[in-house]
Amino acid sequence: MVLVTGGAGYVGGTTARYLIEKGEQVVILDSLVSSSIEDVPSGAVFYKGDVADTALVTEIVKKHNIDACLHFAAFIEVAESIQNPYKYFENNTSKSLILFNTLKDNGVLKIVFSSTAAVYGEAKYIPIDENHPLNPVSPYGMSKFFIENILSFFDASYNVRHVALRYFNACGAWGGSGEKHNPETHLIPLVLQVPLGKREKIYINGTDYNTKDGTCVRDYVHVYDLAHAHYLALNYLRAGGKSEMLNLGTGCGFSVKEIIEVCEKVAGVEINKEIRGRRAGDPAVLIASNKKAKEILGWDIKYNDLYDIVKSAYLFHKS
Ligand SMILES: NC(=O)c1ccc[n+]([C@@H]2O[C@H](COP(=O)([O-])OP(=O)(O)OC[C@H]3O[C@@H](n4cnc5c(N)ncnc54)[C@H](O)[C@@H]3O)[C@@H](O)[C@H]2O)c1
Repeated sequence: MVLVTGGAGYVGGTTARYLIEKGEQVVILDSLVSSSIEDVPSGAVFYKGDVADTALVTEIVKKHNIDACLHFAAFIEVAESIQNPYKYFENNTSKSLILFNTLKDNGVLKIVFSSTAAVYGEAKYIPIDENHPLNPVSPYGMSKFFIENILSFFDASYNVRHVALRYFNACGAWGGSGEKHNPETHLIPLVLQVPLGKREKIYINGTDYNTKDGTCVRDYVHVYDLAHAHYLALNYLRAGGKSEMLNLGTGCGFSVKEIIEVCEKVAGVEINKEIRGRRAGDPAVLIASNKKAKEILGWDIKYNDLYDIVKSAYLFHKS
């Protein structure tokens, strides 16, 4: 069986649903610190608890004969991490270290880890490949960078094989899982809150970037495609694959203005917006090279069309 930490959350929940559909037996461990019991996918065995609870993790591994762990559980807000770095280094880095050690002590030597494009910091070139220098600029990005390094040393010393998947901007909805962070800071759900009557307007943070229309450009990858990549990474490790760090993005970039335009098209209304100044720490462009994930995992992307991605999110939030 496979252990999914953070499986009540957005990406972990979608991946758990995807794995169950593929016939995997899934055990979810989630403290519900940023999700709720209704978010736990049906068909999974669920434990409410913390990844750093060594006794609980040991019990789960033994009872369910766990062979691999997909580790999603984390705090994910960049701005909050700048205000409160301790919270991020404690929950993301320290607790991951404890989790990996417990897994290793109980013979679980395969880990798929949710990393992030934030490990790169400011892009020195585009598209960003895995050889790009790592220079995280937020405690959030740094907390993930530390975990990647811990995993490398665990591989060298304890043979813990792992795939660190560096997601770019996760988005969209699938199988009943959608993006609903609290507070929400991600662009697509924020924009869609306007036509759904939950927000008066959307702020565009800076229109003077060196991009096609002056607004920031990001690589939006559908959560279904992320779930698919986790499934492939799990099977890659089971087949004896060596440890890897892989980008997960589409290789295409969309600006803030383009996202708002597509949201308007999907919702069928004009969206109230206001331009304000740049936000600190926002790089102008982040676009992934996904060549390595395609070569190593055989990853293929189903959701290439931004309209379809936004529509899946809109239908989720509407319901
Ligand atoms: N959403 C994105 O765009 C994005 C981009 C890059 C990387 N990631 C990474 O993907 C992972 C999942 O992100 P998400 O958007 O699904 O976040 P989320 O907040 O929806 O899910 C995280 C889940 O982990 C749980 N959790 C947190 N700390 C825990 C702990 N110590 N013990 C047990 N459970 C705990 C929360 O209750 C929540 O259910 C994170 O590791 C995040 O850093 C997300």
